Amino acid sequence: MIVVLVIFTTNTLSIIKPGGEHVPPYTVINQHIDYAFDPQVGHSVPVIGKQELIFGHEYSPEEAEALVRHGKLVIQSRACIDCHTFFGNGAYYAPDLTKSWLDPVWARMWIPMTGARSREDAMVKFLIDPQRYATWNRRMPDLHLTTPEAQATVAYLKWLSSVDTNGFPNGFPTKESAEHQ
Ligand code: HEC
Repeated sequence: MIVVLVIFTTNTLSIIKPGGEHVPPYTVINQHIDYAFDPQVGHSVPVIGKQELIFGHEYSPEEAEALVRHGKLVIQSRACIDCHTFFGNGAYYAPDLTKSWLDPVWARMWIPMTGARSREDAMVKFLIDPQRYATWNRRMPDLHLTTPEAQATVAYLKWLSSVDTNGFPNGFPTKESAEHQ
């Protein structure tokens, strides 16, 4: 039994660690990430595309890891899961953030609203001043993020969106479905 558990654990760890089968390495933040329905598996999957830099910088593996780790620490220190969920864990007051980077709402609402030139800049502006760019009757409070903290958070969210979550969250809009709305 213990042997079986050890094999399962080792096998699972190799799949879920960055660079594993389901979790791209942190340098995926240098690339375009899309989300598309895959009829073979019956749910949507992240599609890693061509180079698409975030904040106009190509991050080396070390830089990318440091930035994403910083973002994770910001998220932990501000207790975002008091309101949000990641992989479904946390509170259900505000949207799940696992795929937030891919949310068509950035292009539809927050880029025009903030006047930002890119999705990452719109996300940073929103995170720094969520009350000013509110879109909902539930408001996100100002958590006093600095610009570097917000940038690291956005890089974390970009990396997170590349994780193959077996279709979670169910019904998350793909670009195709958003175009039909
Ligand atoms: C007190 C509750 C609360 C906390 C804590 C909170 N948020 Fe939010 N968040 C919200 C609400 C409510 C919205 C929706 C706001 C809107 O649409 O105007 C939101 C929206 C967002 C969005 C946009 C999601 C999308 O795709 O539509 C992101 C990204 C986000 N929050 C990130 C964070 C991060 C990162 C933290 C921690 C640093 C955090 N939030 C902490 C309540 C919260």
